[in-house]
Amino acid sequence: IRIGVLISGSGTNLQAILDGCREGRIPGRVAVVISDRADAYGLERARRAGVDALHMDPAAYPSRTAFDAALAERLQAYGVDLVCLAGYMRLVRGPMLTAFPNRILNIHPSLLPAFPGLEAQRQALEHGVKVAGCTVHFVTAGVDEGPIILQAAVPVLEGDTVEDLRRRILAEEHRIYPEAIRLFAEGRLVIEGRRVRILDRAE
Ligand code: GRF
Repeated sequence: IRIGVLISGSGTNLQAILDGCREGRIPGRVAVVISDRADAYGLERARRAGVDALHMDPAAYPSRTAFDAALAERLQAYGVDLVCLAGYMRLVRGPMLTAFPNRILNIHPSLLPAFPGLEAQRQALEHGVKVAGCTVHFVTAGVDEGPIILQAAVPVLEGDTVEDLRRRILAEEHRIYPEAIRLFAEGRLVIEGRRVRILDRAE
């Protein structure tokens, strides 16, 4: 499959996806990486991997919806089958959801439905949970709300800072995001209402 990755920042999850494709753990390739921020380091990672890396500036469009329509058009021009949000800090709107129905994935640094939205790791720490983690899910109109594909848990340790927890979770993100993309690429994810059924290889 052809994957389009949307980023806003450092792009360590993008790197995990690029590595997964290169090493054959994901049966597909990254066709294009698009950032809404010109200075996103992930653009550099993409170029280094020989992947087209574009900056699209939301401020250049009359509305958020217009921006998402342009984004969808650009991704379609690259023949993208699957869109992966990887540290992309904007909400995905109507035109993207229509262009890629059940074909947009996101990674979120909490065990959803706990702690949706911004600063999930800080939310978890402040809440005092003893287990935190990350979630790969399909993107729907609600924020961090779509059907859950994979999750991984990590312990919250005594004395953890937000940065400690962020790092521990990030290591798991880099493991489960490529894994979820592989399952998608192999056609093994079946959405049944709220739930995602994962087919065995044999089915
Ligand atoms: C990750 O924690 C991801 O879960 C969240 O944003 C962060 C992106 O990090 N959505 P990176 O840009 O992939 O390094």
